[in-house]
Amino acid sequence: MDTKPPQTSEQAPVCTCGAVKPKSNKAKKWLKYVVVILSLSAVYFITKKPSQRLTMTHEEWDIFIKDHPYEAPAADAFRSPCPFLNTFANHGILPRSGNATYDDYYRAMTIAGTTPSVTKSFLNSVFYAYKEINPSESIWSDLHKAPYVTFQHIGQHNILEHDISLTRLDAAQEPDFTIPNAERIQSIIDTADKSTSMVGEKQLSDFRRGKWNEAAARPRSTYHFGLFFQFTSAMECVLLLDYLGHDHQISVDHLESFTLKERIPDDWYPLEQPLTTMNLIKRTRSCFMSVRKSKA
Ligand code: HEM
Ligand SMILES: *[C@@H]1O[C@H](CO)[C@@H](O)[C@H](O)[C@H]1NC(C)=O
Repeated sequence: MDTKPPQTSEQAPVCTCGAVKPKSNKAKKWLKYVVVILSLSAVYFITKKPSQRLTMTHEEWDIFIKDHPYEAPAADAFRSPCPFLNTFANHGILPRSGNATYDDYYRAMTIAGTTPSVTKSFLNSVFYAYKEINPSESIWSDLHKAPYVTFQHIGQHNILEHDISLTRLDAAQEPDFTIPNAERIQSIIDTADKSTSMVGEKQLSDFRRGKWNEAAARPRSTYHFGLFFQFTSAMECVLLLDYLGHDHQISVDHLESFTLKERIPDDWYPLEQPLTTMNLIKRTRSCFMSVRKSKA
């Protein structure tokens, strides 16, 4: 109770003491510099583009792709069930061997217009999901991410690869996931809008629903299309229509080039700005619902 007043009166002389005064002036000066530097750097970080610019302008892409010509895959190269991975590898944007590190996938995806946060969360799951567990090592080693993931790993059935795909037959019909099915792709092309030659969400969803109905008529053990895969299929609908295509549609020429020839069309260029997470969520939800609502 009686300790407080003496304390303040004891502190007062210390503060007004001559040795401290010039110091506090100096500190004030420094503080000014610090405030100026902090505000400048705040302005810098708020206005500057992401530290690593990931997407390209149309002009930058045209220069970039000249250095990344198409080459058919070598006999010993790995290929995947993903048209994007195969196509980018055929142009050397991903390793042509089909054996890639986290950084390789990160670069390819962000060039295509995925945001850093979406890319990191997706790739972290991938690099845990496809990690080979070595039974002779400790359990703790299971917690490490894979050092690389080959396209062959990515084809393992029912991890990411699933039935009722747009471009592949179901695993029970064609176990080789690297082979795009020309007939299937042609039937999607046939559904394109006749005046614009564009394929959109409705066409993809009706197609998928049709293939789902066909599979459901087969013996139950020959296909699987659970909730998780319905969700990843909806994402693949967005990957096709908004990253390979633009604005939730894709031209039949581009569709055929990416999925059947696995070659980047000459007149194509990737998103100039990443697709926002909000748009990604909205469009994925829309693709998901449209398969369930389809009357096909
Ligand atoms: C922005 C980058 C990407 C785009 C535009 C893209 C595009 C696509 C598309 C359109 C499909 C559907 C093919 C079909 O239904 O037949 C697909 C399937 C697939 N993608 Fe990708 N992809 C991307 C990144 C990746 C990455 C990084 C991985 C794995 C590391 C991956 C793994 C797969 C797999 C396993 C499938 C097969 C799913 C199925 O069974 O249908 N994709 N991708
Ligand atoms: C993939 O590449 C890594 C080096 O990055 C190598 O150690 C590994 O053996 C390769 N895997 C296959 C299956 O070729």
